[in-house]
Amino acid sequence: MTNVILCGGSGTRLWPISRTLMPKQFVKLFENKSLFQLTVERNSNVCDKQLIVSNAEQYFLALDQLEEIGQHNNSYILEPIGRNTAPAIALACMALAPEELVLVSPSDHLIKNETEYKKALQRAQKLAEEDHLVTFGITPHFAETGFGYIEADGENVKAFHEKPDLDTATDYLEAGNYYWNSGMFMFKAGVFLEELEKHSPDIFKASLKAYKNADKKDLVRIKLEDMLAIPENSIDYAVMEKSGNVKVVASDIGWSDLGSFDSLYEELPKDKHGNTLNPNLVSIDSKNNLIYGNERKIATIDIEDTIVVDTGDALLISKKGSSQKVKKVVEEIRKDS
Ligand code: GDD
Ligand code: MG
Repeated sequence: MTNVILCGGSGTRLWPISRTLMPKQFVKLFENKSLFQLTVERNSNVCDKQLIVSNAEQYFLALDQLEEIGQHNNSYILEPIGRNTAPAIALACMALAPEELVLVSPSDHLIKNETEYKKALQRAQKLAEEDHLVTFGITPHFAETGFGYIEADGENVKAFHEKPDLDTATDYLEAGNYYWNSGMFMFKAGVFLEELEKHSPDIFKASLKAYKNADKKDLVRIKLEDMLAIPENSIDYAVMEKSGNVKVVASDIGWSDLGSFDSLYEELPKDKHGNTLNPNLVSIDSKNNLIYGNERKIATIDIEDTIVVDTGDALLISKKGSSQKVKKVVEEIRKDS
């Protein structure tokens, strides 16, 4: 089985930790490992090789980080610009034999319950071998509007709803047969391409042309003009919402997409006062804070429920619960530059 790892995102909601040249998947957030490295290690039992689809700018980062963890059976597809996940996955499947099983993994998620995760993978493999597109559903804990929802009837997917508004998400939460779409998928390469051709023929055709035209010396480099000609869309809108052949494996695998500092706070180790561990922090009567920064000493006095992120060239201070607004900061900065 091939692990197709999607590395093209820039993770702007974790600014200033996550930057264009150092996106969140490559930042060493947990035990001196990056989420990208943790993803590869987690899947290396079931997948004998990795196919990394990333922006050309991140090639050396990915290469170095795989070297560090002793993973050598890797190949790469380098995109000059991103066109979202449907083209990225299509290009990967075009590089593989049609019968090859593919596990698609975002590179920037955390999974804490590896035992449950392995069980989910086993079930998914069975369904993918029977020529289904398999999604991994997560029991929702709150009405998140940043995720896709899978409406299930047992293992059958009745419908796929990408990023609903808050009222709709609240209804889904109450209904009980809706799961968060984790963004991980399993299928045979050929089955995915058939579904893509059926439901989004423009993406299929343009991706095939781009793949055939690519420079394929030691790795696959897609040409800019070909990439620009591919319509931009996610796998969720381009295929999952439209296909009648989708199954769901629902489980509780301790999943987080670490989409904000609030969700990162939940996952980082903390001291007895609820402050995230940081050897540079002197904390006086302060509690429940996320204080990140390893360049200089940071001291807090009587501070509660606050997020402070110091990267040397930028400093973020936010109230806990408001960290979704970081994307507004990034928009402002981009306007100025
Ligand atoms: N190679 C490549 N090229 N990778 C990409 C591209 C691209 O153009 N765009 C995104 N990715 C990678 C990101 O790095 C990430 O690992 C993954 O694909 C998903 O992309 P996101 O941009 O993070 O998607 P999202 O968060 O809006 O939504 C998706 O994930 C949610 C769960 O986190 C959807 O699948 C939702 O349905 C899902 O709930
Ligand atoms: Mg995401």
